[in-house]
Amino acid sequence: MHSAWALAAAAMTVEELRRALEGFDGCGLKKTATNLVLGDGNPEARIILIGEAPGAEEDRQGVPFVGVSGRLLDRMLGSIGLDRTQVYISNTVFWRPPGNRNPTTMEMAICMPFVERLIELVDPEILVALGGAAAKVLLAQNVGIGKLRGRWFAYSTPRLPRPVEATAVFHPAYLLRSATHKGEAWRDLLEIKRKLNPL
Ligand code: URA
Repeated sequence: MHSAWALAAAAMTVEELRRALEGFDGCGLKKTATNLVLGDGNPEARIILIGEAPGAEEDRQGVPFVGVSGRLLDRMLGSIGLDRTQVYISNTVFWRPPGNRNPTTMEMAICMPFVERLIELVDPEILVALGGAAAKVLLAQNVGIGKLRGRWFAYSTPRLPRPVEATAVFHPAYLLRSATHKGEAWRDLLEIKRKLNPL
């Protein structure tokens, strides 16, 4: 049996990675999900955003961030002149956890070879973790989102041609619940814009 790492590494395009995930039965979330939710946007984008896990609407459509928090994410991107033709969006797991519970550390670890390969295939300049769960696994840091946002890290894998500049922002679902962080979120978005379009 192919390991998840070998399966992911063999994918040379995002479409091949999708087919690999369709044939991968190593993640228990697949059993209860309706659809695989791999990604949305432009696989040639300069920026990739990784959220936590698909919710009910994402599971129905097979597309990430299409529910309420997705609408806020679209507005956040729009505020710095970006839309889904200029970004690629995915999650730390590719199937909806039942009842919208948080994905477990194990489920995220099982999907990580595919997340990592996805980042290699998009080969972006900037990686943005959306929320604390994605930030923790992608930035390999053991502190909360409040301490990670606004900082930049180098994300590397053996197959990326160069390290990707990586940061974290508050998850849109969190911003919907907590208006007090809107100012910080806005500053983080402007910093991302500045990295993409240096003067
Ligand atoms: N929240 C996420 O983290 N990902 C989605 O795709 C939708 C909501």
